[in-house]
Parts: sequence; structure tokens; C-alpha cells
Amino acid sequence: MASIAVCPGSFDPITYGHLDIIRRGARVFDKVYVVVLNNSAKNPLFTVEERIQLIKEVTKEIPNVMVDQFSGLLVEYAKTVKATAILRGLRAVSDFEYEMQITSMNRFLNDDVETFFMMTNNQYSFLSSSIVKEAAKYNGNIKELVPPIVEKELMRKFSNLRKQKS
Ligand code: PNS
Repeated sequence: MASIAVCPGSFDPITYGHLDIIRRGARVFDKVYVVVLNNSAKNPLFTVEERIQLIKEVTKEIPNVMVDQFSGLLVEYAKTVKATAILRGLRAVSDFEYEMQITSMNRFLNDDVETFFMMTNNQYSFLSSSIVKEAAKYNGNIKELVPPIVEKELMRKFSNLRKQKS
């Protein structure tokens, strides 16, 4: 039986930290579905379609990675693609509580889907979509943090927002 994992997130936008986890996940599982889900606590900068396009572009060289979106519960999505694993990245101790809550809720909702964590590469342990957006907003250099296409789209997005305000 093929091992199928779902790698869920907001990906607003995808960073090298996410990509690191996706790449390594794709070496362990037969198939990895990277799925953009709604996090009701967040107010996204990119539309779901824009996020999907960016993820597709930067994962196109990884044959066993599929990119998708879903607007319901993660465990429901996992069922539709016959995934038995959820893959998440852990950066630091500060992630633990949040991840434990999500994992416990997902387990409560569906005990058949197991969550796996991979430690993010140390060089990305401080990295998050939010911190990248913060730096990009003020024209900070984010070249080493996101793929070139993501950097371009972030700069374009903030430049448009600045024009709208002026
Ligand atoms: O990248 P994020 O924002 O930390 O990812 C969180 C995400 C999107 C994986 C989580 O909010 C989620 O699974 N949302 C879908 C709704 C759901 O299944 N909620 C129950 C578990 S908290």
C-alpha cells in the first residue's frame, strides 16, 4: 500500500522552510499532498489561487508532490486522498504547544490519521511566512528566505498595496 501524506498549511506564502519539509517528506512518503487550508486565525495576503500557483511553481521538480486546496477539515481532506499521515514542520520549542493542540484535535476528529513532525533545517528555524511578509513590506532583503518567484510576487503585492494607499 502506498504511503500517502498530507502536508497542510496556510502557505501565505511558501518559504524555503516549508520547501525543506516538503522535499524531505517527499523522500519518506510515496506521495505528498501539499494542501492550502483556511486558518481562521489568519488574514491572508495572497489568495488561495495565488498561493497554489506559487507552491506548484516551486515544487514542480518533485514528481511525487501534488498541490491542492480544501476549505473544510484537514482530516476530511486526508480521507478524500486516502492519506494516513499528516506532515508538519517543527522549528522551535515555541511551535510545540500550537502543534500539540492541532494534532490532538485532528486525532480527536479522526484517530486513523497519524501526525508526523520533521525538524526544520536549523538555518530556517526562525523563518515563518509572517516574518517574511513583515520584512518584505519594508523592502527588506528576503532573497535567502523564499524562492525567487515568491520574492517577486511579495514585492509586487506590497508595491501595489503602497500605490493603493497613496
Ligand atoms: O500554516 P498554518 O496556518 O500553521 O496551518 C494551520 C492549518 C491550516 C493546518 C490548520 O489551521 C488547519 O488544519 N485548518 C483546517 C481546519 C481544521 O481541520 N481544523 C481542525 C484542526 S485545528
